[in-house]
Amino acid sequence: MINVSKIRNDFPMLKNKMHGRPLIYLDNAATTFKPKCVIDAVVNYYENLGANAHRGDYDLSHDVDVAYESVRNKVGKLINCDAKEVVFTSGASGAINTVAYGLEEFINEGDEILLSEAEHASNVLPWFNIAHRKGAVIKYIPLTSEGRITIENVKSTITSRTKLISLAHVTNVLGYTLDVKEITKVAHESNIFVVIDGAQSVPHMVIDVKDLDCDFLCFSAHKMCGPTGVGVLYGKYELLEKMQPIMLGGGMNSRFYTCGDYTLHHAPSKFEAGTPHIEGVIGFGAAIDYLESIGMENIHQYELELKKYAINKMKEIPGVKIYNESNESGVITFNYKDVFAQDIATHFNTYGIAVRAGQHCAKILTDFLKAPATVRASVSFYNTYEEIDFFIEVLKKGDEYLNAYF
Ligand code: ALA
Repeated sequence: MINVSKIRNDFPMLKNKMHGRPLIYLDNAATTFKPKCVIDAVVNYYENLGANAHRGDYDLSHDVDVAYESVRNKVGKLINCDAKEVVFTSGASGAINTVAYGLEEFINEGDEILLSEAEHASNVLPWFNIAHRKGAVIKYIPLTSEGRITIENVKSTITSRTKLISLAHVTNVLGYTLDVKEITKVAHESNIFVVIDGAQSVPHMVIDVKDLDCDFLCFSAHKMCGPTGVGVLYGKYELLEKMQPIMLGGGMNSRFYTCGDYTLHHAPSKFEAGTPHIEGVIGFGAAIDYLESIGMENIHQYELELKKYAINKMKEIPGVKIYNESNESGVITFNYKDVFAQDIATHFNTYGIAVRAGQHCAKILTDFLKAPATVRASVSFYNTYEEIDFFIEVLKKGDEYLNAYF
């Protein structure tokens, strides 16, 4: 069980107002607010640690190393992998780019990379880039009429040239959850790499990479109460060891010589060139502790119930079209009559409600949805039933305001 009123006190942002009204934040799929313990952890680094990581021979530097590396262990415990399989990146985008570039030498002309039309830019453009560079072919696993990916559709898209499948565990617009375990099983029978974009799943549910058996999992700290600019690339160690890093620099090499030769550290260090986002990683550790104190399963259940409550009320409003009623996440994507999605978001904004409108970085999904733009409300465990009631009230007021545009 979740004690939402107690939890809300942990989030300074929830005390803010927007347009003179209590702020109702329903854009949690874009980023989440941060609890005070995360803010304190970041400030504590600046006030009491302050040194660089992996470079000093004095106590402060040692303390920074311990604080930074302890977060690798926390991530490992969170997703059930070894700490040495955790690479810190700038975010999910940084992680996907790292794996795409790192696997480039395994991808040959004519090889196929399977994606879906429901992916957001971060899980499309890095693969376009590799496909252009290597002469590989991008193929899209067909979506069902609802927008899901089925194992049958995965199987029917795989050919003898398929080298890699990269899919979102939970898609950011439709919010459907992928059966990663089943897809990985099928893919590995044909030696196909499986990359999972966990940006919308890791923050909301229990994840066990050993059980899923995916080769890579990419996610961001900022969508799970952590700081921006930090993310994780999980990779099976033997694969990380075979991959080339996208960035070279300090902290990731063992030696380099005037002749131009150099040797690199082992993973994960070889992927973390330069001074890392130390305070961000330390803040991320506090975020993981915080989420675990609530319980990932509790978070998942609460968000699903809250989403269902909202959907049931939205369905009673004439003119509301919901695109993802049956999903297994806290994401509700909808339109209202023929009103432009951004106008709907503006309407909510005047009542202090933040939702996202547009294409949500998933620009090839619009043809599938037959809608140039949609509105997305995404809940978190700190949202309340009362907030949803007000969201519904404001949605019902839509005609008064929105008719002004016609
Ligand atoms: N990918 C993030 C979203 O879905 C930014 O809003």
